[in-house]
Amino acid sequence: MEEIILIADSKGKGIDFAKGIYEYLKKKEGISVKLVDIEKNIFRDKEFKVRIAENVRRKKCFIIHDSNKEPCDWFTELVFLLEAIRFSSPEEINVVLPYTRFARQDRKESSRVSVNVKAVADVISLYATRGMTVDLHAAGIQEYFSIPFDNLYSFPSLINYLKTKHADFLNDLVIVSPDLAGAKRAEALSKRLASRGIKAEIALGHKTREKDNEVASIIIIGNVEGKNCLVVDDIIDTGGTLIKTCEVLREKGARKVYAYATHGLFSGGVEKLRDFDRIFVSDTLCCNSAGNLEIISLVNLFGEAIYRTVLGESLSVLFDEMKNGQEKLKEYDI
Ligand code: R5P
Repeated sequence: MEEIILIADSKGKGIDFAKGIYEYLKKKEGISVKLVDIEKNIFRDKEFKVRIAENVRRKKCFIIHDSNKEPCDWFTELVFLLEAIRFSSPEEINVVLPYTRFARQDRKESSRVSVNVKAVADVISLYATRGMTVDLHAAGIQEYFSIPFDNLYSFPSLINYLKTKHADFLNDLVIVSPDLAGAKRAEALSKRLASRGIKAEIALGHKTREKDNEVASIIIIGNVEGKNCLVVDDIIDTGGTLIKTCEVLREKGARKVYAYATHGLFSGGVEKLRDFDRIFVSDTLCCNSAGNLEIISLVNLFGEAIYRTVLGESLSVLFDEMKNGQEKLKEYDI
């Protein structure tokens, strides 16, 4: 029997995500799982220390790191947790990042800039045995880690959700990427849909920014007139990218306009996105479904990925629906 310890901050907003993974794993055979808390003491000057609340000696540890923490706390807490666990004699340290922060700074686009996610990857690689996340901002970031680091994909969960709850929308469908960098993402979704018998064309946006967090313009290339459009992105931050995209799609005569982004930061609030008929995000960051917003849970996807990691089984079965068909995914309820 493999003994797994999930380590999560019971006072953090992300605790329900960790508890969901715990509940999923509790039902699995061949493993025993325990959810262990993190104790945090904050000094008057705001420095803090962390402690793993229980013994983890010779155990396979999985830190389910709370993505909802402010970016600087997210990073420093992760480093201190890794430090605390490493010297507590675990058998393995696995880092689970529902959302990988700092991933948008992933390349040297001008002189003397920091490639932040490379620094995050270096530090994690220094302490951890392996890691996992979902829908990285750019797939190439995986290579910044010098440990095995799995990038899960949420599209199978999205497709299952749409087929169950919004089957009508899947007719006359166009997948829209708001920027050229997302073209591969749109193509991947279109291919997955095709493997499930759903035809979807692709339209691409050309987005320009003059400043960070502000979209100057978006031009959409492709025919969207009279079509159901699903805009796909990895992140909704201010919402500026999606709002501009929706405006242009409406001008070009789109029928219904839906959007899906894996990680809903919503720094500009959800309300601003009211022009969309529907918005879908996953639960890697906390938000409640309300109005046009619906949440697609990735708890089971992470639970199954952790289970398979512990048993040494393949993870690609979770994404490779072209090869595996849908039966397996139904079995895991992802
Ligand atoms: C950009 O490269 C990302 O994929 C997202 O399009 C962007 O981060 C979304 O930001 P915002 O919601 O602030 O426009």
